[in-house]
Amino acid sequence: MTCDIPGPRPWPFLGNLLDIDLENSVQSVVDIGKQYAPICRLRLGGEDKVFVTGHELAKELCSRRDFVKFPAGAVGRLRDVMTEGLFTAHDDEWFWGPAHRVLVPALGPMSIKAMFPEMHDIAMQMVLRWARFGEDEVIDATSDFTRLTIDTLALCGMDMRLNSFYKDNLHPFIGSMMNVLIESSKRAERPDWFTSLFFRAANRQFDRDNAFLHAVAQEVIDKRRRAPESDKKDLLDAMLNGKDPQTGEKLTDRTVVDNMITFLIAGHETTACMLGFFFALVIRNPECYNKVREEVDTVVGIGPVQADHMSRLVYVKACLREALRLYPPSAGFSLAVKGDDAKDGPVIIGGKYKIKHNQPVFVVLPNIHRDPEVWGSDVDEFRPERMLDENFKKLPPGCYKPFGNGKRGCIGSDFAMQESILAIALLFQKFDFKFVNPDYELTVKQTLTLKPRDLFMYAKLRPGIN
Ligand code: HEM
Repeated sequence: MTCDIPGPRPWPFLGNLLDIDLENSVQSVVDIGKQYAPICRLRLGGEDKVFVTGHELAKELCSRRDFVKFPAGAVGRLRDVMTEGLFTAHDDEWFWGPAHRVLVPALGPMSIKAMFPEMHDIAMQMVLRWARFGEDEVIDATSDFTRLTIDTLALCGMDMRLNSFYKDNLHPFIGSMMNVLIESSKRAERPDWFTSLFFRAANRQFDRDNAFLHAVAQEVIDKRRRAPESDKKDLLDAMLNGKDPQTGEKLTDRTVVDNMITFLIAGHETTACMLGFFFALVIRNPECYNKVREEVDTVVGIGPVQADHMSRLVYVKACLREALRLYPPSAGFSLAVKGDDAKDGPVIIGGKYKIKHNQPVFVVLPNIHRDPEVWGSDVDEFRPERMLDENFKKLPPGCYKPFGNGKRGCIGSDFAMQESILAIALLFQKFDFKFVNPDYELTVKQTLTLKPRDLFMYAKLRPGIN
């Protein structure tokens, strides 16, 4: 027996618009999702949107071969920017396989270890900045973590120095990138015809930003080609000179440019958010704070932080995993079954819910990651111990997906982890931290990602460090 997908009653014309806080739409979906778990339907922008919020159903979708990535919502709108990028590709698009096969080794463990000195270089710029600020300067942590992550990706990925820690105004590339991200999120909330008719000035700005991003990326490629003797082994080198092991073909310039932009967009804000939540959660929990500090002191001591320390900072890693559980920077991902309803009829999920072909189903991570059936009654608590390797390995499949699913999961997760563990080791080695507002309440700000709102803190050099 099949049944309709439940959800609040839609109004004529408006659909479920009034059920959603547009500034914080993810939280609205999370709240509605809790009420109708494990699945709900909302009518938004003239379309039915389906959300999966229960862990068992998410597990089913993530393991079914007929459900594949379907770039919908803001991710879908970003196809106007990164048409041939990995992140925004449909599952069957020709350019995904070659780029994936060329880039996986370039982001594998050995390659990432080789990036350690450059990651260290950028993280030290942040440490020096905070040290020079002194203990009374208010640090806008999420903003500095954004500087850290974008500069690290640009340097490790394409040998490009953005020098964000030395400038008041960030590189114009970052401005244009932010603009297209914000505009893509807005476009996802309204029908296409409405955008083209009523947002002409915003559309022109979007086109200008998009053209600028491509021009800068192309310039970086041209510069690399003018220096063929360069022995730099980075993502750009892999994309320009690597050959698809399956076909022996090189990537086209369009694929390379779109993936350069993809890496900068997909990799910087997410990692900055993870670091922000780590600090917000650890500072609020004195016991965890002391454990992080003790681990850094024991593993690293007062000497230089080295690549070999990374795998030994196990509690720090567990804290990052737990931060990603409670506050996943990407709210989820969309899957769909490609095909034709008229020919094959709808598909059934959870034994009873009918889903049309090409209907995106969004897996809502904040719900899945806080399903008490999996995580227990302390589901809302920050308890890094549950993410130590021995416990992490025992988690049931499908309950923890901050980096997405299967072959379309994140290609840069190890990069993000190394970069973050390194930054935390350097920062905890040098500073004591406290919130500017001692009663700081952790709330979430939504852009394309989810980040901690108003995370302002003081960093005081630890005694004996100068
Ligand atoms: C894909 C999360 C860091 C590059 C994804 C997806 C998620 C995700 C959820 C799947 C999206 C979907 O299915 O629609 C994160 C988080 C990060 C992070 C939480 C940091 C904490 C990075 C970094 C890079 C990166 C540092 C680049 C070095 C990508 C790319 C894809 C992707 C290229 C698309 C992969 C494909 O479809 O082939 N990420 N990411 N990400 N991520 Fe990340």
